[in-house]
Amino acid sequence: MAAEYARRGNEVIITGRSAERAEAEAARFAAETGGRVSGLGLDLSQPHSVADALGKVERVDRLAVAGMIRDSNTVASFAVQAAVTLATTKIVGYAAVVAALHDRLASDAAVLLFGGMAKDRPYPGSTVLSTVNAGMVGLVRTLSVELAPVRVNSVHPGAVVDTPAWVDKRALLEPLRKISLTGELPTMRQIVEGCLFLLENPAANGVNLTLDAGRA
Ligand SMILES: NC(=O)c1ccc[n+]([C@@H]2O[C@H](COP(=O)([O-])OP(=O)(O)OC[C@H]3O[C@@H](n4cnc5c(N)ncnc54)[C@H](OP(=O)(O)O)[C@@H]3O)[C@@H](O)[C@H]2O)c1
Repeated sequence: MAAEYARRGNEVIITGRSAERAEAEAARFAAETGGRVSGLGLDLSQPHSVADALGKVERVDRLAVAGMIRDSNTVASFAVQAAVTLATTKIVGYAAVVAALHDRLASDAAVLLFGGMAKDRPYPGSTVLSTVNAGMVGLVRTLSVELAPVRVNSVHPGAVVDTPAWVDKRALLEPLRKISLTGELPTMRQIVEGCLFLLENPAANGVNLTLDAGRA
């Protein structure tokens, strides 16, 4: 998505926990696209530090919040610190980013939060992930009201076959592919196109968009 916005001539800022890594990735995107891309260090799991990290950002037209770490957690074997980190990252961290930038959002700005279909379809180990992704639905609702006329939406992908999360675990996706109504699973490009729709279509507001190629 960052590359797509850079290709379209927009100034893009990407973030990650390490400023060096974010800057290196930004330089790679800039070289690939010929666009203006810079990187910032920002740790969503440390929400108190988010406002400072974004201090130098000026006007924001499009904001996508996607960062997270994967974890596997069940009630039967509950790892409290892992749960606190993921819940803080996704629920408090995402809200902290929007709060930090809210007075720099253009009046026709759009915000996009990343959820995921674990919200409706839990699997072993998804206890906290299902909870935080379901939390995006509430966050979208309240933020779209609080930030109006700024638009706020979320995207909820199914397993995205060509993301790093799955690239080495394709065999695990076969059972999901079999029950997909199209016989396929979403690709990163398809998710990006859905995100562009949510960010760019003026009628899309308060939407929680499922992109999983369909399930019975
Ligand atoms: N891939 C899928 O199949 C899938 C399916 C459903 C939903 N999703 C959702 O889509 C979003 C992106 O997933 P993805 O597969 O692209 O994940 P990913 O490849 O693991 O990338 C996660 C990104 O988050 C950043 N990050 C991790 N912890 C962070 C923190 N504490 N603060 C700031 N940034 C942090 C990472 O950068 P650094 O390591 O540099 O910090 C990285 O850029 C997530 O919200 C996920 O829930 C993905």
